[in-house]
Amino acid sequence: MEIVLSGIRSTGHLHLGNYYGALRNYIKMQDNFNCFFFIADLHSLTTHPHPDDFHAGVRTILAEYLASGLDPQKSAIFVQSDVPEILELYILLNMISYKGELERTTSFKDKIRQQPDNVNAGLLTYPVLMASDILIHRANLVPVGKDQEQHLEMARVLARRFNTFYNSEVFPEPKAFNFGDDLVKVPGLDGSGKMGKSEGNGVYLCDDEKSIRKKVMKAVTDAGPTEHNSEMPEPVANLFTLLKIVSDQSTVEEFTNSYNNCTIRYGDLKKQLAEDICKQTLPIKARIEEIYKDEEYLRKVVKRGTDLARESAQATLKEVRKAVGFRSFLSSDD
Ligand code: ADP
Ligand code: TRP
Repeated sequence: MEIVLSGIRSTGHLHLGNYYGALRNYIKMQDNFNCFFFIADLHSLTTHPHPDDFHAGVRTILAEYLASGLDPQKSAIFVQSDVPEILELYILLNMISYKGELERTTSFKDKIRQQPDNVNAGLLTYPVLMASDILIHRANLVPVGKDQEQHLEMARVLARRFNTFYNSEVFPEPKAFNFGDDLVKVPGLDGSGKMGKSEGNGVYLCDDEKSIRKKVMKAVTDAGPTEHNSEMPEPVANLFTLLKIVSDQSTVEEFTNSYNNCTIRYGDLKKQLAEDICKQTLPIKARIEEIYKDEEYLRKVVKRGTDLARESAQATLKEVRKAVGFRSFLSSDD
């Protein structure tokens, strides 16, 4: 069975971008693959979260994963920092990752711009840690949104390079995965770009009905089309992209037609969009709080997931160490 792995950083609540770009695919894949899903708490340290908030951040994502439908009986669900094998692989992959290629990564260049006073080495080697997350389980498929394409490419390069460098076949080349043809990019409601935690333009799985309506009704639009079949400006196209994601086909067709013949009323479009978002997210919201509070259940889920993840990681690391040439004086294993 092919191996699937993915994770989300513990940097706040999950939004529609996380859900449709990543999480919904995790849920769909659970029945047909050997799945590992985790919370990337180490990756979230690049932005220096306060120690008092750190654990709550991890617990939030865990509760939101489970409330969305990740099933601990089907998938190994774990926290990155509970699997130290990832970090040993990270050190080893760092030795075959080069400063130039890491500096050229788009996400690194973005971060330098966003946080010029905190350009730490963890930011530079972020893709190496991510490659370690993936390769430690020898994953074949990685469900992620479009923004992670370049990081996935780096994981593929490192898998190939390791195999060549150490004349081995330890790692398969992982592929980014989405059902549909393309990786998804969920836009924000502010007119341009993607929905993101740091962009402040998100609709969250934990939002209540009122705030969802409010956010959607406030979305940027324009004065409306004046010529038949005219091209949509980006903010309007973004609303249609969201509609295509959450609504059924006939609704999308109805509004596309009314846009094309200039009878569209953006108020109606937004009302429908808010309603369809609520239909998808409110049942999830209803489960989050209860799961968050159930410490015993969360502990059980993570215990099972961590045991599975460490077993898989240790098997890979054994091969890796052999390939690199380690032979311990402390064990007779060879
Ligand atoms: P954020 O970008 O909000 O900080 P993360 O970087 O932790 O969230 O992303 C976790 C997962 O969600 C990744 O697989 C990423 O590709 C996906 N994702 C995040 N935002 C979007 C978006 N707007 N559209 C599609 N996928 C997204
Ligand atoms: N970098 C990913 C993001 O920001 C999170 C992540 C860390 C990840 N390690 C991963 C995703 C391994 C997939 C596989 O979204």
